[in-house]
Amino acid sequence: MTMHEPSGTTSASASADPLPLRTIDVVLGARSYPVWIGRGLLGDAARWRAMLRGRHALVLSNTTVAPLYLEQVTRGLEGLHWSSFLLEDGEAHKTYANIGRVLDALGALGATRDACVIALGGGVIGDMAGFAAACWMRGIDFIQMPTTLLAMVDSSVGGKTGVNLPVGKNLVGAFHQPRAVIADIDTLTTLPEREYRAGLAEVVKGAAIGDPAFFAWLEQHADALAARDDAILTEAIARKVAYKAGVVARDETEQGERALLNLGHTFGHALETAGHYTALLHGEGVAVGMLLAAQLSERIGMSEAADTARLRRLLETLGLPTAIPPGMDPQPLLALMRLDKKNTAGTLRLILWRGIGRAEIVAGVDEADVLAVLQAATASP
Ligand SMILES: NC(=O)c1ccc[n+]([C@@H]2O[C@H](COP(=O)([O-])OP(=O)(O)OC[C@H]3O[C@@H](n4cnc5c(N)ncnc54)[C@H](O)[C@@H]3O)[C@@H](O)[C@H]2O)c1
Repeated sequence: MTMHEPSGTTSASASADPLPLRTIDVVLGARSYPVWIGRGLLGDAARWRAMLRGRHALVLSNTTVAPLYLEQVTRGLEGLHWSSFLLEDGEAHKTYANIGRVLDALGALGATRDACVIALGGGVIGDMAGFAAACWMRGIDFIQMPTTLLAMVDSSVGGKTGVNLPVGKNLVGAFHQPRAVIADIDTLTTLPEREYRAGLAEVVKGAAIGDPAFFAWLEQHADALAARDDAILTEAIARKVAYKAGVVARDETEQGERALLNLGHTFGHALETAGHYTALLHGEGVAVGMLLAAQLSERIGMSEAADTARLRRLLETLGLPTAIPPGMDPQPLLALMRLDKKNTAGTLRLILWRGIGRAEIVAGVDEADVLAVLQAATASP
């Protein structure tokens, strides 16, 4: 951890770039906040500094992201009491024990109730920074500065925060909305290709669940997205964020509609777990899981083969996996699906599909149908 005393004021300006800044508002009454999407935003402290209400700020990041972007952010904190705390990189470090360390860092900083935690990193850092902010003095501000595509389009928006326990992922947490989300797409230039594509799966997911026009737009621009065209990418991020913001505004604490955002997740989590969280990234699990959910929906007469084919084609064009990885067997995958949090009293409860743009929660899904879909997907090349 590094600590800094106030040292005058700071100024910074946005990079001169023709790409316009996009702003999406998450509308939640007094807890509403903007999501800014654009270039050069981390260095544009003139814009985001106003979001800090007090004199203390703790930047949480990790050992991969900090060397790339921490200095840009901390330059904007001049004049405040600030410190940074870096975690080791990876999902394995999203732990309760590390939350204790982050809280200790807030204590060492002397953080008061108007302090702010800044999350600089992917979803792991965002989830942890938000949870620490929710706990410190029963809730202080936090700002999301997502640096992965997945975090920009999904995890930084909506206020779900938390950590993993040895018995399962994301079992401890809180709903705690950020004060702002600052998505600087320049940070994606250093993001590894595989992580980038995994983020695209979350973009497709939003369109597949609730926005058929967006799905058609993605089909039209898939090659440009795969090639990381900045303007097309910014538009895709903005549309996915707008879709998620709408869902969160209507159902902040997941009493109903927000659960639809888990399309493909029950299959995906089983695949991630079977692969010991190394065979598939989360977004890759979501890609395969969405297609399996589509195939199951088709099998039980909820959707058409043509829709499944469109989904498969889009995922393939974006370079995402669509098959169950070799070595994973249907029966153990089904057993893992039975452990899903959404299930009730011994029956499977899944998010299924009525075709492009329409998802639905379905309880009492017949395991024989699930098994048949898993078997077909394992057998296919
Ligand atoms: N809160 C939510 O609503 C929500 C939603 C979806 C996922 N999640 C959580 O998000 C996490 C996954 O997020 P993720 O995919 O961003 O993973 P991540 O945070 O592990 O980041 C992926 C990798 O990219 C690296 N990285 C990040 N930004 C980089 C950059 N700009 N350049 C180079 N490398 C960079 C990271 O260090 C890491 O190695 C999971 O813990 C998941 O549970 C939360």
